[in-house]
Amino acid sequence: MPSFVANVNQQTDVLPKGVKALMDNGLVTIPGRYIKPPSHRAVKHLIVPGVEIPVIDMAALESDREKFVQTLCKASSEWGIFQVINHGIPVATMQGMVHGVLELFDLPIEEKMKYYTEEVFVPVRYCTSMTPSQETHMEWHDHFQHYFSNREKEHPWPEKPACYRRLASSYVSSVRHLSQTLMSALSEGLGLDSNCLAKSFGDSEMILRSNYYPPCPNPDLALGMNGHTDSGGLTILFEDQVGGLQARKGDLWYDLKPIKNAFIVNIADQLEVLSNGKYKSIEHRVLVQPDQTRLSIVAFCNPSRDAVIGPLPELIDEQNQAETPHYHFKDPSSIREALQSWISDAWKRS
Ligand code: OGA
Ligand code: NI
Repeated sequence: MPSFVANVNQQTDVLPKGVKALMDNGLVTIPGRYIKPPSHRAVKHLIVPGVEIPVIDMAALESDREKFVQTLCKASSEWGIFQVINHGIPVATMQGMVHGVLELFDLPIEEKMKYYTEEVFVPVRYCTSMTPSQETHMEWHDHFQHYFSNREKEHPWPEKPACYRRLASSYVSSVRHLSQTLMSALSEGLGLDSNCLAKSFGDSEMILRSNYYPPCPNPDLALGMNGHTDSGGLTILFEDQVGGLQARKGDLWYDLKPIKNAFIVNIADQLEVLSNGKYKSIEHRVLVQPDQTRLSIVAFCNPSRDAVIGPLPELIDEQNQAETPHYHFKDPSSIREALQSWISDAWKRS
């Protein structure tokens, strides 16, 4: 056993570099910082295994748009999460992206550390957990994150690996197109013009976040990602077949069974607000595995940071009062204040 392992419980060893680095160095028990208090751990009897969440077949969009919109609207209201098949994005584009992302995480730790930051609004971020210096209990994953806006033609990229830029550009443009198609149908599902939600988003922004969950020596004591709702608009996630993503309804956590080459799409907070609560921003979390690495590539399709968000006026009448006031999306404190009574514990990552 390398001497490093004996030291690993010291918090300073754990903080900066990430869980992949810990495992690559032969870690055999998880450091204290990753052990969740019993109240935060996954409780087996509250988990519903192998659940098939609604499946949205994009091929149906061409044959019967009205029915497609109804099915999408039902899935977004009853679940807030669904899998998307026949989406038209070539498997080669998705597999290419997976390849690029794996190479990114396989870079020497010194290269990855060039991008290490706890700042959220930076062009390229490498980090482990969420904001390690502020967390009592860390999450068992590392991630790379970067921004794509419509405004800037040139986006900063990680310098290495050389293939990454080409593969990620192709992936992002395909996923952006998918998000636009879904947003149009979601607008129609609210009885509105198809461009209504896109207009409210303004000059929308996409955040691409790749999460790497290495095997965990004590999977029952840790979580890959704590329960949370996504703070943006619409989330489009591609994962491998390892599993571990769970969605919460009431007290139960539903274990999502991935369909090969499908995307998992979830409604995020801003779409719940714009729809005045009709679409549900679902809470989700990630469990870790004892013997497998899991990879997810998550595209957050978000409103412009200048957008003013609130329930769409067309959805408000005497029977349907506005559930939340309006707020500026770029200002987290105004969002928290506006949504205080509405958002559960999504903001309080432990
Ligand atoms: C996220 C998220 C889930 C996953 O990054 O917000 O929920 O499967 N990820 O990695
Ligand atoms: Ni999420």
